[in-house]
Amino acid sequence: MDSNNIEEIVKKILQDMQGGKASSSPAAPKACAGIPQKARVAMLVEKGRFELQEYAIPELGDEDILVKVEGCGVCGTDAHEFKNDPFNYIPVVLGHEGTGEIVKMGKNVLKDSAGKALHVGDKVVTCMIFSDDPEITMFDLNKQNVGAADVYGLIPDKVSDNKFCGWFADYIVIKKGSTVFNVSDLDLDSRVLIEPCAVLVHAVERAKTTGILRFNSRVVVQGCGPIGLICIAVLRTMGIENICAVDGNEKRLEFAKRMGAGYTVDFRNYKGAEALGEAVNSVFGGHYADFAFQCTGNPIAHANIYKMIRKGGGLCELGFFINGGDATINPHFDLCSKEITLVGSWVYTLRDYATTFDFLKRAQAIGLPMKDLITHRFPLEEINEALKTNLSMQGLKIAVINK
Ligand SMILES: NC(=O)c1ccc[n+]([C@@H]2O[C@H](COP(=O)([O-])OP(=O)(O)OC[C@H]3O[C@@H](n4cnc5c(N)ncnc54)[C@H](O)[C@@H]3O)[C@@H](O)[C@H]2O)c1
Ligand SMILES: [Zn+2]
Repeated sequence: MDSNNIEEIVKKILQDMQGGKASSSPAAPKACAGIPQKARVAMLVEKGRFELQEYAIPELGDEDILVKVEGCGVCGTDAHEFKNDPFNYIPVVLGHEGTGEIVKMGKNVLKDSAGKALHVGDKVVTCMIFSDDPEITMFDLNKQNVGAADVYGLIPDKVSDNKFCGWFADYIVIKKGSTVFNVSDLDLDSRVLIEPCAVLVHAVERAKTTGILRFNSRVVVQGCGPIGLICIAVLRTMGIENICAVDGNEKRLEFAKRMGAGYTVDFRNYKGAEALGEAVNSVFGGHYADFAFQCTGNPIAHANIYKMIRKGGGLCELGFFINGGDATINPHFDLCSKEITLVGSWVYTLRDYATTFDFLKRAQAIGLPMKDLITHRFPLEEINEALKTNLSMQGLKIAVINK
């Protein structure tokens, strides 16, 4: 074995240790070995049925990225599309709460949407917000690029016919101009939780605009599904401790306590909104809430929550990602005479996404049971089961995990 040979071997070992990165050589190919020619996507072919379909992995453009999918959370939006196809998108590849490892990228790809360097081997997520305007929340219908390849796992890519355009797949092709973040410093479970957590980072940012939310505020979180539970987690990482969770599900109320809610109220034990308001007043030692987050999709719950809030208090309504019907309130008693400051919250901005990465690290550091939010994990082959489990309201966060 001559010295040239040894040098080559050492180089190869170092390269493997860096997850395929060949940082010393600028001419090195930006790709891992072992990328198959074909890979599978889960295509929603009709209401209630995904089919695993195999396609050739397309040639990458100079600014495209090929990612090997590690996992993807199932969102209520996926379940909605799976069950009803409300937007008429079938056939479509879904999955937008996904993450994976870069295995190949075009020669011009250098940085992520936050300016962090990108290398083969890095773990990434995409975001459903357009990179050119960090302050808007998604679905600005005036934007021309809605429907193109930069929104992954929601809308079929009819522009470039990229089949690898959703995270329920073996691979995803991230096209030029998409939002992508290097989150290699987060573990797989945390990365799967980024998207729903960003919803709550945004909601708390909206709440802060009222000027009412303080360290020592008494806060009600109504609804203890994943959204409400993550809401409690975000409040806890901000140092807010005085939290009352309201739900009608014992297991979820127990989880709320583990997440750091000091008090719980089971709405099933009280008849009418006034009695519920008094129950909250009682757990807070004779005070109504300074601030409340409404995290159910139930219009009755929206009407109830005003009774739990003090005069001059605040409310963030975030429970209606989609239309859940009308709520009846008394504008005099519930809003005007109490001078309630009300904010709505919908999805997140690109900036909230970056904040969310730090939130997840803080949550882990103070020992919040974030990972326990993922109660079910299915392989890609069982994606129909994963969606059905979500629809049957079993567990909390359902995830499709590829490895
Ligand atoms: N604003 C946004 O951008 C955004 C994003 C994602 C989800 N959402 C919405 O947030 C809501 C919650 O999401 P999730 O995934 O946690 O849903 P989920 O259905 O898992 O949880 C809702 C919880 O509310 C409880 N609930 C129902 N009626 C109640 C009542 N009257 N009083 C108290 N609790 C009641 C249920 O028991 C359940 O635990 C959904 O309606 C969803 O559309 C909004
Ligand atoms: Zn989602």
